[in-house]
Amino acid sequence: MSKIEPYITSIPDFPEPGVIFRDITTAIGSADGLQLSVDEMAALLEGEPFDVVAGLESRGFLFGMPIAYKLHKPFIPIRKEGKLPRETVGATYSLEYGTATIEVHKDDIKPGMRVVLIDDLIATGGTLEAAAHLLEQLGAKVVKIVCLLELKGLHGRDRLKDYPLATVVSYD
Ligand code: PRP
Ligand code: HPA
Repeated sequence: MSKIEPYITSIPDFPEPGVIFRDITTAIGSADGLQLSVDEMAALLEGEPFDVVAGLESRGFLFGMPIAYKLHKPFIPIRKEGKLPRETVGATYSLEYGTATIEVHKDDIKPGMRVVLIDDLIATGGTLEAAAHLLEQLGAKVVKIVCLLELKGLHGRDRLKDYPLATVVSYD
């Protein structure tokens, strides 16, 4: 068992009956949990050559930024539609109900750039898949995806089979 696991809380019936919500706020709300989660995610990048960390709004920012800081790399935000002020490129993906669009500043990504994608959690994998396609569209190479949590039952890993994916804790 990873040392971070006891810091993650499981909330039954949130946001709807029958769902067990894995809550990372108790991990980052503890000084030890925060350090452990960032350190354990950063350790998954040991020996991996890359140029930048890209993090997904909003919970991906909580981990992407401190990992970039720790490894002395730049941080690029991938944001929800309409938030970034310069020229953007976007990708639209399906949610359980409807669709969502994420965007990145076009000039943040240079052809050939080696990007590590960070998020808190992989559920269906739809968000990370859209982010990876967005970065590739701009000529970047997604060299690794790192998340703190993985919900295995939703098979996000299958959807992201084209990318090296590493997670710290997985739930059945
Ligand atoms: C959550 C989570 C991931 C995504 C995972 O973000 O932080 O980004 O969903 O789901 P998926 O693998 O099925 O795509 P959410 O869109 O709830 O936004 P938030 O980070 O702003 O809470
Ligand atoms: N926890 C946090 N975020 C989520 C979850 C979860 O269990 N499922 C989908 N997004």
